[in-house]
Amino acid sequence: MPRRTSDQLKGRHAIVTGGGGGIGAAIAYALAVRGARVTVMGRTLSSLRFVAGALPGARAIVVDVTNQRSVRSAFAKAGPADVLVNNAGAAESAPFERTSAALWERMLAVNLTGAFHCTAQVLPRMRAAGWGRIINIASTAAHKGYPYVTAYCAAKHGLLGFTRALAIETARTGVTVNAVSPGFTETDLLADAVQKIVAATGRTAEQARAQLLRDMPHGRFVTPVEVAAAVLWFCLPGAGGVTGQARLVDGSPSPQPLMPAHP
Ligand SMILES: NC(=O)c1ccc[n+]([C@@H]2O[C@H](COP(=O)([O-])OP(=O)(O)OC[C@H]3O[C@@H](n4cnc5c(N)ncnc54)[C@H](OP(=O)(O)O)[C@@H]3O)[C@@H](O)[C@H]2O)c1
Repeated sequence: MPRRTSDQLKGRHAIVTGGGGGIGAAIAYALAVRGARVTVMGRTLSSLRFVAGALPGARAIVVDVTNQRSVRSAFAKAGPADVLVNNAGAAESAPFERTSAALWERMLAVNLTGAFHCTAQVLPRMRAAGWGRIINIASTAAHKGYPYVTAYCAAKHGLLGFTRALAIETARTGVTVNAVSPGFTETDLLADAVQKIVAATGRTAEQARAQLLRDMPHGRFVTPVEVAAAVLWFCLPGAGGVTGQARLVDGSPSPQPLMPAHP
């Protein structure tokens, strides 16, 4: 069991989608060691149980975020949440001409519509309580284009638009809505991307990783713990004045403010 390092989130219930591994598991851990009671959600019960089993008081609940009925049922089981991290996602790639309507729909469903379904389940209670934190895990692909992932890029750009618009709607409610945008991060998703490049180009895995690293100014991939640290920050006391923002975790300085000033 991890040692609790502070009680800053004591009494808060945090739901992390896609919490069965990778970035989501690191986020669950970071919130739990600050005292939050965490519920991890995803499609694979065994991996959710593995993560929840290591965190005091944590629960594992199966959900498919693309299915509204599944989301309603999972969130009803989980109970009211103070923190929602919309982290569940997937990144299928294909050149645009080979991007089928089905692939397009899958990417929008899991990376964008899933966040809509989950947020709809928690926002009314957060508004009523006068406190809530919603953090959407976007991507550098929410800020710029990459080849062969038009659907993923469109979905993540959409997630950022969703973040900014909802932040304005909730600005006076005590609920903040922010995004964290990782660059390439060491998880299964990155391993899949490397394998895809190997299969498509005949390069070695090392060459494929070197190709992706060209996009990382600090010359290495991000770690899930670094992404989790950014998510945690939005939940800590003192972050209540920050909403509608996207925090890049990609080793580069943000070129410009991502949200225009409120009129
Ligand atoms: N790794 C990177 O380089 C990188 C970079 C930028 C942004 N991101 C974003 O970071 C987030 C986490 O990705 P990761 O790198 O940690 O990848 P990952 O290890 O593949 O994790 C994705 C998680 O989402 C869950 N998931 C997928 N489809 C789901 C669905 N329909 N309903 C519920 N859960 C679902 C998966 O669990 P099940 O399969 O068990 O459902 C898995 O736990 C994603 O939103 C991703 O787009 C990752």
